[in-house]
Amino acid sequence: MRPQKPLCSFFFFFFFFFFFSLILTLYPAAADHEGPSSGTSIVFATTGRSRYAFDIYTVPTVDPPTNANELRITDGHSVNFNGHFPSPTSSSILSIIPNQTLINLIYVTERNGSSNIYLDAIYYDSPDHTRRRSALQVPIRVQIPLLGSEPSIGRISMKDRPSLVGEYLVYVSTHEDSGVPRTSWAAVYSTQLETGLTRRLTPYGVADLSPAVSPSGVWTAVASFGERGWSGEVEELSTDIYVFLTRNGSNRVKVVEHGGWPSWADESTLYFHRRSDDGWWSVYRAILPEIGAVSVGTVVIQRVTPPGLHVFTPAASTANRSFIAVATRRPDSEFRHIELFDVDSNEFRYVTRPIAPQNHHFNPFISPDSTRVGYHKCRGDSNGGKPENLLLENIQSPVPDISLFRVDGSFPSFSPEGDRIAYVSFPGLYVVNRDGSNRREVFTGTAFSSGWDPKRKGVVYTAVGPIFATESTKVDIISINVDDDKLGYKKLTTGGENNAFPSASPDGKLLVFRSGRSGHKNLYIMDAVDGEMGGIHRLTEGPWTDTMCNWSPDGDWIVFASDRENPGSGSFELYMIHPNGTGLRQLVQSGSAGRTNHPWFSPDGKTIVFTSDYSAVSAEPISNPHHYGPYGDIFTIRSDGSEIRRMTHNAYEDGTPTWGPTYMRAVDVERPNDGPQCSFEDCHWLKISRNQGVEVGPLGFTEAQCGR
Ligand SMILES: *[C@@H]1O[C@H](CO)[C@@H](O)[C@H](O)[C@H]1NC(C)=O
Ligand SMILES: *[C@@H]1O[C@H](CO)[C@@H](O)[C@H](O)[C@H]1NC(C)=O
Ligand SMILES: *[C@@H]1O[C@H](CO)[C@@H](O)[C@H](O)[C@H]1NC(C)=O
Ligand SMILES: *[C@@H]1O[C@H](CO)[C@@H](O)[C@H](O)[C@H]1NC(C)=O
Repeated sequence: MRPQKPLCSFFFFFFFFFFFSLILTLYPAAADHEGPSSGTSIVFATTGRSRYAFDIYTVPTVDPPTNANELRITDGHSVNFNGHFPSPTSSSILSIIPNQTLINLIYVTERNGSSNIYLDAIYYDSPDHTRRRSALQVPIRVQIPLLGSEPSIGRISMKDRPSLVGEYLVYVSTHEDSGVPRTSWAAVYSTQLETGLTRRLTPYGVADLSPAVSPSGVWTAVASFGERGWSGEVEELSTDIYVFLTRNGSNRVKVVEHGGWPSWADESTLYFHRRSDDGWWSVYRAILPEIGAVSVGTVVIQRVTPPGLHVFTPAASTANRSFIAVATRRPDSEFRHIELFDVDSNEFRYVTRPIAPQNHHFNPFISPDSTRVGYHKCRGDSNGGKPENLLLENIQSPVPDISLFRVDGSFPSFSPEGDRIAYVSFPGLYVVNRDGSNRREVFTGTAFSSGWDPKRKGVVYTAVGPIFATESTKVDIISINVDDDKLGYKKLTTGGENNAFPSASPDGKLLVFRSGRSGHKNLYIMDAVDGEMGGIHRLTEGPWTDTMCNWSPDGDWIVFASDRENPGSGSFELYMIHPNGTGLRQLVQSGSAGRTNHPWFSPDGKTIVFTSDYSAVSAEPISNPHHYGPYGDIFTIRSDGSEIRRMTHNAYEDGTPTWGPTYMRAVDVERPNDGPQCSFEDCHWLKISRNQGVEVGPLGFTEAQCGR
């Protein structure tokens, strides 16, 4: 017989039993397992995301943090993040959950290939609180997808930052097209849970992020781009804080110029973050005068956290106003941690550092009674959770006959039959069957981009050398026969002056590629078998960059990205040109200073998939791990320039899409061997440099290394 566990070890207990899961509201049955016979598939890459495996955890605020009192709340499936503890009396949806509930949690999850908001309640099915729990008693999980019947569900979207206020769920969604290039689709909505009635609280023409509802529920604060919009910034968004009535979005007023991530301590106190003039991210407090008479001039703003460390994403405690929870980056750690900050004594208290010093922890939130702090982190493989472990993650597609996948790698391309995928996982080039089997590294050096020969079976082209390099950097195109056991490769360019992005003509005779050999990156065409020794000619010419070229399946067009409108600006548009150099035309105008890259033709040649900042950013980048381009989403456009369509909705950097010739079943494909778990990076711009032991401040490193 097992010894009985004393009650006090109930957290201990949590770790040793699987939750019994009860899904109250089921998804509509998965539509069609085989999918349309005539469909196609798009595969794309997302920086770092395949290794996140986020779950939400909590520890008590009163006890010293230890491994034993850290509780994983979410169920170890998919990616779960941005939690919120609803007040137990706040909503009738919570009344269906038994009284002995330990924890109610609202959060964002990306399971089933879409972004959704769930409520999890965890309790013991024991009517008698005083009775000793048996060691065999299993906590019960009730899991309820909160959005399901409202009209926006048919439209794929990103959901973010949920909170539950009375009968209303308040959250960010991207389901409505802003209608303007480079204008975020993110807006705040409230959904009445019983009826599904959804109301947009953000005015049309404006984008709002990071909503926070006041303790009474009456007011909502947001970080908003306002009329100004997004101008391409990545590290710190140029948002201001606005407050409006949660009920209907009216009485909207700007309360703080320059700030984000608001959190209410009481009806007139807001905490928020901004990057201070001294370079450190810091938490600030805004005291609002009597609400109704608020305007920027009447708000008192104080810096709360000191220089010397970055402090951001504050969460105020409404039951105990003497402390807030924050995320920090300190000079002595490369990792993001959750800490409590006492606003009276100005002292920090570690929360996650004693538990997991070498993990990043994100976006804290505090329970209504202030006794618990929650956050998310990568569960890894030692935390009782299941690593994501997906080679291809199925993403819900807005187009029924196109299935959509995120690959754990980059620069994917399909074999002509569609049965194999080549992709880059820095630094090597890999080929894998589309069911995840038979993965092989086919080139061990640093390679980027991949493409198959349409006629010669097993021949893959790639470029060898560093990515994002100057015109004169040594990068050469090679072909590899991946069916040859020796994996012999052939060098096709000789100059070594940044020759990259090879794409074969449909007859397999020619390759279009970009080269920096003239001093500018322009497009060239050479012999596909013998390389430039077999003949080469120049396709485009000008003092700008033409790159990322792809040859159409009918052979008549080459689509490519170019900054010719504003050379060197970092802004790229898509163009099409005939292989004989005639017919040049612009395909996508990405909006002033926009970025539109990596075009690839559909198998029928009528549509082009690409990545773009066309829908701007959808969340504050600092609330996520590092993404070079957090604005990147995948789009398609007809080759005549009509019907631009957004395929992905998230706050990540989605890029390097490719289009395969067959329909792959819309299900996840497991990764063959485990890679390292949790191997993603925190925001690079939070790096703190030290110069011979002397602090030089937070800006030293990033500006010197990556300055524009
Ligand atoms: C949704 O995902 C879960 C695992 O995360 C899985 O068990 C379930 O079958 C999926 N549901 C559908 C409808 O695909
Ligand atoms: C919004 O709600 C407030 C408070 O209930 C009310 O006074 C106001 O008239 C409403 N405004 C609109 C536009 O519905
Ligand atoms: C509020 O929090 C502070 C700091 O953690 C703690 O010292 C104090 O006891 C708390 N007060 C109450 C009433 O819980
Ligand atoms: C160039 O190629 C396109 C299609 O590939 C063709 O329609 C056009 O007639 C050609 N123009 C010349 C001048 O050869």
